[in-house]
Amino acid sequence: MPSLTDIRTTFLDYFEKNGHARVDSSPLVPRNDPTLMFTNSGMVQFKNLFTGQETRDYVRATTSQKCVRAGGKHNDLDNVGYTARHHTFFEMLGNFSFGDYFKDDAIALAWGLITKEFGIDPSRLLVTVYHTDDEAANIWKKVAGLPDDRIIRIATDDNFWRMGPTGPCGPCTEIFYDHGDHIPGGPPGSPDEDGDRFIEIWNLVFMQNEQFADGRLEPLDMQSIDTGMGLERIGALLQGKHDNYDTDLMRALIEASAQATGTDPDGPDNVHHRVIADHLRATGFLIADGVMPSNEGRGYVLRRIMRRAMRHAHQTGASDPVMHRLVPALVHQMGGHYGELRRAQPLIEETLRGEEERFRTTLDRGLRLLEDEVGRLPEGGTLPGEAAFKLYDTYGFPLDLTQDALREKGLKVDTAGFDAAMAEQKARARAAWSGSGEQADAAIWLDLADQHGATEFLGYDTETAEGQILALVRDGAEVDAVKAGETVALVVNQTPFYGEAGGQVGDTGTIRTKTGRVRVTDTKKSAGLFLHMAEVEEGELCAGQSAELVVDTLRRSAIRANHSATHLLHEALRAALGEHVAQRGSLNAEDRLRFDFSHGQALTPEELSRIEAEVNRYIRQNSEVSTRVMAPDAARDLGAQALFGEKYGDEVRVVSMGRLDGSGKGTDKTTYSIELCGGTHVARTGEIGAFVALGDQASSAGVRRIEALTGQPAMDYLRAQDRRVTELANLFKAQPEEVGERVRALMDERKALQAEIARLRREAAMGAGAEAKEINGMKVVLQVISGVSGKDLGPMIDQQKQILGSGIVALIADTGAKPAVAIGVTKDLTDRVSAADLVKIAVEALGGRGGGGRPEMAQGGGADIAQAEAALAAVEKAIAGA
Ligand code: ALA
Repeated sequence: MPSLTDIRTTFLDYFEKNGHARVDSSPLVPRNDPTLMFTNSGMVQFKNLFTGQETRDYVRATTSQKCVRAGGKHNDLDNVGYTARHHTFFEMLGNFSFGDYFKDDAIALAWGLITKEFGIDPSRLLVTVYHTDDEAANIWKKVAGLPDDRIIRIATDDNFWRMGPTGPCGPCTEIFYDHGDHIPGGPPGSPDEDGDRFIEIWNLVFMQNEQFADGRLEPLDMQSIDTGMGLERIGALLQGKHDNYDTDLMRALIEASAQATGTDPDGPDNVHHRVIADHLRATGFLIADGVMPSNEGRGYVLRRIMRRAMRHAHQTGASDPVMHRLVPALVHQMGGHYGELRRAQPLIEETLRGEEERFRTTLDRGLRLLEDEVGRLPEGGTLPGEAAFKLYDTYGFPLDLTQDALREKGLKVDTAGFDAAMAEQKARARAAWSGSGEQADAAIWLDLADQHGATEFLGYDTETAEGQILALVRDGAEVDAVKAGETVALVVNQTPFYGEAGGQVGDTGTIRTKTGRVRVTDTKKSAGLFLHMAEVEEGELCAGQSAELVVDTLRRSAIRANHSATHLLHEALRAALGEHVAQRGSLNAEDRLRFDFSHGQALTPEELSRIEAEVNRYIRQNSEVSTRVMAPDAARDLGAQALFGEKYGDEVRVVSMGRLDGSGKGTDKTTYSIELCGGTHVARTGEIGAFVALGDQASSAGVRRIEALTGQPAMDYLRAQDRRVTELANLFKAQPEEVGERVRALMDERKALQAEIARLRREAAMGAGAEAKEINGMKVVLQVISGVSGKDLGPMIDQQKQILGSGIVALIADTGAKPAVAIGVTKDLTDRVSAADLVKIAVEALGGRGGGGRPEMAQGGGADIAQAEAALAAVEKAIAGA
């Protein structure tokens, strides 16, 4: 009996043998379709190949595509567990031709695979074709020899396949298997076609049209093929089963669930095991593709799936978290073909465990409340919407979980009442918000958020995505269109652009639609919406259009590197300076990072270089950067750094990086840095490249600030520094390491030269020696000198005194500003004349005040140089009278 793994391989091998490129499944979150919540068929990743917008180096492809149908247009969630063939997650096997072969080969290849490779009895097979498609009917006759009564013509959309309201589409032919008349049900197109006897196993779509939003259906340039075969269905058939959940793969998961809960896989708990097995697959693959449980968008669909599974696990009587213990079984079954599942195993286990631990704290109480409510209901009754809302709001029960729980009892929920209670809560929240003094223009964002819900952020995983334009806001008002030259705030349903938050700047980039292009100069966030602040560069953009959003990737990589380096810096600061270091602010821009932290004094150069070296050590370690979502308390228990006083919601993103041996943080004490953070980060620390701290300065009292560079700017900075040193070395004709010594020597030399210059200047100013007069029997020098400063006078006086041997020297310096005066009297004359007295006379004459010193030497300052001669005359007179 072939396993599902064998069947998948047979399918892919068969088409590869027939000239098809074996292409990997695309991720569950579609990158190229803003209208799809999850990838729901094999053709999604090839959408643009059918329309001719994109070409690749192959024209035939085959895939086993991961699909999720839970949320959005195709939603099978509610039926899972209760039917034989519904799944939230399934694999779609497909072969594709892009303008290469068409109906003939598609039918021949399909027939060959199922009757020869799979060995299905042709007499059990019948097909449907679109009612006008004679060509397909004739090919079936020719290739498969099917009689007319086994080629059923269908006039409905069942045989005209569309991926959604727009996009490539075309008539299709479906292959059915007849399980035999012991099972009730009629052939397709008959009144009882919904029975289980005739089961569709393969859909071949003849892609030849494109559907437009305005209703037009145009022929495509190329004729192409898109086929889809559910692996679980064909598996059941080839394994002789009627129920997909009886196939080897699903059975293994059901048994793992039974074992983990200590219950019988086939007993009354069977329905629970089926739901658990299905939801385990959806959960594992969604987390592996980057979806994290949250309260918005895709994350909320994942959370609903996880919590439903958890309730079912609880119903089996399990008292401890179960789901994470089933992940090894899932990886064992599917990790061989899907390497991403194997790689994400620890993340899947941790996320499931965290979610289950958190949900368990309210699940019991919620279920008791539900029991009480149910006890009050009549048979077949309806749970009031308010009760369902309380379960949602207080106990974390998604509405569909409550509905699922009631379904077992044949009860319903008043969903209109639930919606009303939800609307009322929103209105209350809104009133509180607008009353809190937020800026007035925020009202428009609140309105838009109410109308459209929060923007889904895809930028943790991708920098390019498609989104739908939900609103264009110009000058505070919503408009239908914007044209070249205008500025606009643009709101989309999902975006890869990061909205400024937590110190990380908003992304810039380009948004394009079929009719125009805008340049996004900044991205901000308000009321859960991401606002792309943009300028229209070309054409026109309209609300409702699909748009391609492309973030400036180089800029984003630089921002990412800076943000991750900030986390390493934070930890290195704590390690070097102590636990008191806490973040007080930060900026993560594309050209630098800035980090403010509490610390009382300046960092010494040694501290700074130790910190810089530590950050670089963790960069070179190139350890993986991991992201988890958990409750704030759990994150703090792990040792995560959180901003003091910050309000956190029910759950936080926790970013960890750097490895240590048992002395770090985290459950196994091996993590260097753990922080609560919503920003974008490098995948491995090595991507930061390099880290250079530009120095530390005071930011405010008790807060220091470090600015730093990473990556190329860090290298550029070091290179520029190096160039400067080389230039200096060249100037000094020395080696770079000798420059310091040379500079010191030069400074010493300069000091000596300055002293020498001062001496020479004094000598020059005095000339060959001043004329001394004889006054009152004493030699006296009286002189006004320009070009010297007051402090030069002292040494000049000493010099003159030496030349005179005995006498009096009075000098006034014409400094260009206020005059200075100094007077010296040789010791032998001080009992006749005091320099201090003479200076007072000169100072007064110069319009100054004070002045003084010792009898042999005194100085002072004046105000008016024009009085210099008068001052000297007054001094002379005083000497004459002495
Ligand atoms: N795209 C087609 C389907 O999903 C094959 O059925």
